[in-house]
Amino acid sequence: MSRGSRRATVSAPANIALVKYWGARDLKRALPYHPSISMTLEVCRTVTTVELAPALETDEIWFAAGAAAHPEPAPEAFARRVRAHLDRVWTRLQGVSCGRPAFRVATRNTFPAAAGLASSASGFAALAAAACRTLGVDAGARELSVLARLSGSGSAARSVFGGFVEWPAEGAPAAGAAPAEENPDAPAAQLAPAAAWRLSCVVAIVEDGPKEVSSREGHRLAPTSPHFARRLELVPERLETVRRAIRDRDLDLLGPVLERDAVELHAVAMTSEPPIFYWRPPTLEVLSEVRRLRGLGTGAWATMDAGANVHVLCTPEDEPRVAAALEAVPGVRDVLRDRVGDGPRDETLDLLAEADR
Ligand code: PMV
Repeated sequence: MSRGSRRATVSAPANIALVKYWGARDLKRALPYHPSISMTLEVCRTVTTVELAPALETDEIWFAAGAAAHPEPAPEAFARRVRAHLDRVWTRLQGVSCGRPAFRVATRNTFPAAAGLASSASGFAALAAAACRTLGVDAGARELSVLARLSGSGSAARSVFGGFVEWPAEGAPAAGAAPAEENPDAPAAQLAPAAAWRLSCVVAIVEDGPKEVSSREGHRLAPTSPHFARRLELVPERLETVRRAIRDRDLDLLGPVLERDAVELHAVAMTSEPPIFYWRPPTLEVLSEVRRLRGLGTGAWATMDAGANVHVLCTPEDEPRVAAALEAVPGVRDVLRDRVGDGPRDETLDLLAEADR
């Protein structure tokens, strides 16, 4: 896509955290208490076309509810979030909030729309990247990371890089230390490219509706849990282990830490005031199946974001066996097979042309 083009399409990937971001010390700016590390996915992506439309009085937002669905005018709540993000991206790029032209936007997820998988990371990353392309701004990945995070979705900061990604918590006081200098930008950075370690991620879908409590609310409530402070103490060593596991491509080292960190996020959520229960009975069935697979010698390790669905990491060789086993678990509605992937990319697809047909 050439600089200054008036219409551009970009896709950005979802990511799954290996050490989770849970708890915001500044909710509005999505600033975390501690760093997090994630793996970028390849198949689960958001594709977004953005066009500069100065002749329009207000933005026009289209949404395709599914991989093969035709774009329709987006529901108002969705359109509001897109508009607000365009406002923030414009203000940061131009340095002033006034004078923003209208845009036409059409967006679609490549994964089932009703799968209950977090699409805010891929969605806001794709929107920020496509808006930059359309405006002819050559934002590097660090700047895109900041732009994506301005949405309020912290994990979006990681979706602009491929492979394995760390989002630091610059400015967060380390346990027992004086506050460090605040860095309100705090972009994420790549630890290793996708080609460095070919891991698979099999996702067991056990819930396909929107979650009852948003991750934003979870981040707000996290410090009310008596276990939150303890998790903060444990995270630095956990990050170190995960960095080492990525460097050495060691799934036996990564797996136990990844699973423990996910369970602890949910322990914090369940003991927040008021408590949040994201798991459903089939979540526990899947966790038990993953343990059974390990007992049989398959290196499969589970992690859950703020929801009931379970991501299972394994080697590409074990992926067919893991997927077949998860499909057979009662309560599992669907199984998606994904893998580590690269960051955002330009697409030739034109969702606005589809919307206009
Ligand atoms: O990106 P947010 O603000 O929706 O928060 C994401 C939180 C988790 O997905 C649960 C963890 C993570 O680090 O991705």
